[in-house]
Amino acid sequence: MQPAPRFPITTERLLMRPLQPDDLDTLAEIYQHPLVSHWIGPHTREDVQREITQQIGYQSTYGWSFWAVEDRASGRLIGDCGLQPFDHRGPDPELGYDLHPTAWGRGLATEAAHEVVRQAFGPLDLGHIVAVVKPEHRASQRVLEKAGLRPNGMREAYGELMLLYEADRD
Ligand SMILES: CC(C)(COP(=O)(O)OP(=O)(O)OC[C@H]1O[C@@H](n2cnc3c(N)ncnc32)[C@H](O)[C@@H]1OP(=O)(O)O)[C@@H](O)C(=O)NCCC(=O)NCCS
Repeated sequence: MQPAPRFPITTERLLMRPLQPDDLDTLAEIYQHPLVSHWIGPHTREDVQREITQQIGYQSTYGWSFWAVEDRASGRLIGDCGLQPFDHRGPDPELGYDLHPTAWGRGLATEAAHEVVRQAFGPLDLGHIVAVVKPEHRASQRVLEKAGLRPNGMREAYGELMLLYEADRD
């Protein structure tokens, strides 16, 4: 049987669980916020719907995917964080996250990313994970550094040259 975390995953302030089709309205609002699309590119509602379907597929194939991130205090869906096949090609699992701007600046992306790394090298039994980030995206680079990933040069991904970050279980 494929290794899998026990859902829901909880941290001090967050709850994480697999994405589901009825997350569409909130996730589309997050992906379409100008401060978010500035970094992840434009998304139509249909794009977001396709991504949710894709993530649900990754979850059943691999036992990991981008998970919904809820604020435990309010129960509100504030974004996603998790692993997907690198550049949707693999084979490495790639860490990523997207939070609503109202949730930024409180260490929540770091808290979520740190927990995904813990799940990756614990219950999911992965040996190696990667992440890619635009060279000018300092906030995201800080999140990766604080979650324990280290920079390792550049890598072409999503049609552009990105900074590559990596972490190993050992
Ligand atoms: C990147 C993102 C997830 C960060 O979320 P967050 O919850 O604010 O992140 P955290 O609070 O955990 O940490 C952010 C860190 O970046 C730092 N930071 C924030 N803005 C910064 C900037 N403009 N320049 C340099 N550092 C910055 C913060 O000070 C903090 O570091 P610190 O703890 O050392 O002070 C959020 O901005 C986001 O969802 N962006 C849109 C989607 C996205 O970019 N996804 C990642 C694509 S690679």
